[in-house]
Parts: sequence; C-alpha cells; structure tokens
Amino acid sequence: MVSTLRWSDGLELLDQTKLPHDIAYVRCNTGSDVAGAIKAMIVRGAPAIGCAAAYGVALDARRFSDEAPQHFDERMENSFALLANSRPTAVNLAWALGRMKSLLYHERNAGKDDLSKVAKLLLEEAHRITNEDISANKAMGGYGADLLKDGQRVLTHCNAGALATAGHGTALGVIRSAIAQGKKISVYAGETRPWLQGSRLTAWELMQDNIPVTLIADVAAGYLMSEGSIDAVIVGADRIAANGDTANKIGTYQLAVLAEKHGIPFYVAAPTSTVDLSTPSGRHIVIEERDAAELTSFAGRRTAPENVQTRNPVFDVTPADLIDAIITEKGISMKGDHPARLVALVSG
Ligand code: MRU
Repeated sequence: MVSTLRWSDGLELLDQTKLPHDIAYVRCNTGSDVAGAIKAMIVRGAPAIGCAAAYGVALDARRFSDEAPQHFDERMENSFALLANSRPTAVNLAWALGRMKSLLYHERNAGKDDLSKVAKLLLEEAHRITNEDISANKAMGGYGADLLKDGQRVLTHCNAGALATAGHGTALGVIRSAIAQGKKISVYAGETRPWLQGSRLTAWELMQDNIPVTLIADVAAGYLMSEGSIDAVIVGADRIAANGDTANKIGTYQLAVLAEKHGIPFYVAAPTSTVDLSTPSGRHIVIEERDAAELTSFAGRRTAPENVQTRNPVFDVTPADLIDAIITEKGISMKGDHPARLVALVSG
C-alpha cells in the first residue's frame, strides 16, 4: 500500500483528491500548508488528520525556533488555532493537537529556551503519534477479526482504511486482519456520495491488496440487505461520544437503521483517540457542512439547477443502541456496556 503520509524533512501527503487516477504527493512545509491540505481533503479520515496536524505543529516549531521565546510562544498559539479550525467533526485532530500542546507546555514551563531542541522533541512526538496509530489499527484489527466469520460479505461505508490512517486502517484493518487469519471475506463498498470516498478510495485501496470488493451505489444497500447479500456492516468513526453515539460519514446512520431492520450486526472500529469522553452524547457533536458545489456538480459538470437550495452535512450520528460493538485497540465495548466500558478502554 502507498503511504498516506510520510516524512522527508517536511511532510508529504498523498493527494486523495487525485485518486484513483494519479498517485501524487503534496509537500507541506508549514502548519498553514497542513491546515490547508486538511481543509481541501488532500488528507482526510479522522486518524490521518490527527497525524498530519501533529506534523503541522512540528513544522511550525522548527520554522519559528530562531525567534525570541515570547514570539515563538505566540506563533505556536496561532499555529494550534489554525490547525484546530481546519475541520470540526473528527476529534482525533483535537486529540493529537492536545498531545503536542502538552509536550510544548511541559518543555516551555520547565524553562527550556533551546527552541530548536523543543522543535526536535515535537517532531519526535509527531512520529510517535503516527507509529502508535499503525500499532493501534493492527491491535484493533485483531480484536475485530474475531467478530467476522469465514465467508462473510461485509458492507463498509466511506473510507476507513490505510488511506484514512497512518496505515492498516480501522474498519478495513479489521477486514485485513480477518483475511490474515485465513478467513475468506469479501467487501461491498458503498460509493459514499457526494465525495465518493467509497468508490475513489476504498475500492481502489482494497484492489491494491487483492481483497475482493464490489462497488455499490449507496442507495442499493437496503436492497442488498433484503436479498440476504450482506452478513455484517463495519464502519470507522470520527467522534464517539461517552454514551457510544458515533459520528461518521453521512449515510452511516441510515445503514445502521437498515442493518437493525434486517438483523445484520453493525460494528464501529476506531482507536480510543476517537472516543471523546467530554462529549456526553451525539447531539453535542458538531457536524461539518461542506460546500454546495459537492452536490450540484459532478466531474466538473453542473448536475443541479442554478440557484437550487442545498444542504451538505458530511457526517451523521448513529445512536449507540444501533451499534452492536465498538472495536478499539484495547478491546471491544459491546452494545449496552458503554459508557463504563468506553471509560475503562480509554483510560486502560
Ligand atoms: O470526510 P472524510 O473523508 O474525512 O470522512 C472520513 C470518515 O468518515 C471515516 O469513516 C472516519 O474518519 C474514520 S477513518 C478511519
């Protein structure tokens, strides 16, 4: 698999707006470059956004390390604010920035004025966050794989794969791990209108690894479930509230409702960095709304009348009672076990 993000004396991001046609990397030398890439969805997916933002902080710390300490501190505050505001829903962004901020404050409060050394420590922390993400996905894959049986056909939505993380993936990581256990698993990928993460990214990513994948229109999911073609649904998450309510790509909620109607298990796979215990329930999660142009044109051609009214919320919230299991790198929280189990997993 190609790397979603890589460090080469600067951050290089696989440009996900160009897939599946071109494999091209965008170089970021500043926090502002990284914030722009997150906004433009050059890098997307909750864990990958967190890793990229951590590198954004490290890039700015290096850039400003020649300045007087007080100016450095002011510049860094601006850098954190710019990165934090790049996208609102995925909590991994705030989580990664929180880790970088604690390290920075710890160093500065200890009176460390050797700013190039502080910058070096921040870069090491960004590498650590990225490497931990890959390990977490592999551990999560191990737990989740036990829920999938040989021969199952699994529906996924959006892209919760290697492309959305530092590697291996969350929902697709569970599938990869089940296949590594010797199970035959095939995947249905919903195309994920309007941005087409399912068709442009998930179908491409799985085909790179020779994992059997069938692309479907999002609106075909109910029919496939009704004819008995889907054995399980597994998705990623952008923010999981303390009660287990889960924000993920728009369209996830309707799949969970359909899955319940058809008696199909519905699983969420996400690292504990996606669990936000400070958010009590899903109704407190901010849902990003993106530009109307994503809805009103397709492949550069207008597909809706000029001046049509639109709404383009790009995430929705699936209530906890529709989720059979939340799979993390530290274990699984089954339906009805949160929030106690989620608290134990996050702090364990
Ligand atoms: O708008 P995107 O592409 O960033 O949305 C991504 C998703 O909704 C993913 O399912 C989620 O971030 C989990 S990724 C492991």
